Amino acid sequence: MLEVTDLRKSFPTPDGSRVEVVRVAAFHLAAGAQCALRGESGSGKTTFLHLIAGLLAADRGRVALGAEIMTDLPESRRDRLRAAKIGYIFQTFNLLQGHTVLENVLLGMGFGPRGADAAHARELLDRVGLSHRLRHFPRQLSTGQQQRVAVARALANRPALVLADEPTGNLDPRHGHEALGLIREVCRENGAALLLVSHDEQALGHFEDVQDFAALNRPGTEVRP
Ligand SMILES: Nc1ncnc2c1ncn2[C@@H]1O[C@H](COP(=O)(O)OP(=O)(O)O)[C@@H](O)[C@H]1O
Ligand SMILES: [Mg+2]
Repeated sequence: MLEVTDLRKSFPTPDGSRVEVVRVAAFHLAAGAQCALRGESGSGKTTFLHLIAGLLAADRGRVALGAEIMTDLPESRRDRLRAAKIGYIFQTFNLLQGHTVLENVLLGMGFGPRGADAAHARELLDRVGLSHRLRHFPRQLSTGQQQRVAVARALANRPALVLADEPTGNLDPRHGHEALGLIREVCRENGAALLLVSHDEQALGHFEDVQDFAALNRPGTEVRP
């Protein structure tokens, strides 16, 4: 389902050189599989997920989602492919503050191939226990509830792949535990593959397949002028 080959990304530094942050020779995730990557802060996890989602352009290499090659596409088509195939759970949720819970889920669907489907949005929000909060705004919710909106939104377009970036980073241990169980279950029910990155051992403990990001990601050390 997801096939990453020789993926590389470097960033400019303030002194005018560049530093490589991601160099992943090969990574594979089967359809419907669930995998967690364990990595320290600053190790390039978010950059890796952004490259997979096409939120960032790679320097080189290939990200294939089934038959479609994210890294071959210009930005506008990357956006379309992401909307069709990927659900992204951001660490800080990235909910639209001026829109209600239901609207947050519907707006995400508007960009997808099937368009807004209010019945499906309500069903997902019910699934994450928020059917009594449809007309609330994000700031009127607890952090755990905001996270659940983010989970519902990520699943709204029936993505083949869900990417979760430290989804428990802003939750206390109990809510983190609940959120993780919920994310895994909802992905399984919806047939979505799940790739999670985290440094939180409690979150990683939910997964049978946990890989060390440092073993996978081997950025070059040379700094080019
Ligand atoms: N847009 C950017 N410009 C310059 N450096 C960046 C940018 N994004 C990330 N980096 C650098 O890349 C490294 C990895 O960042 P990140 O992928 O956010 O790591 P993680 O998610 O594992 O904490 C950090 O050293 C960070 O400073
Ligand atoms: Mg990060």
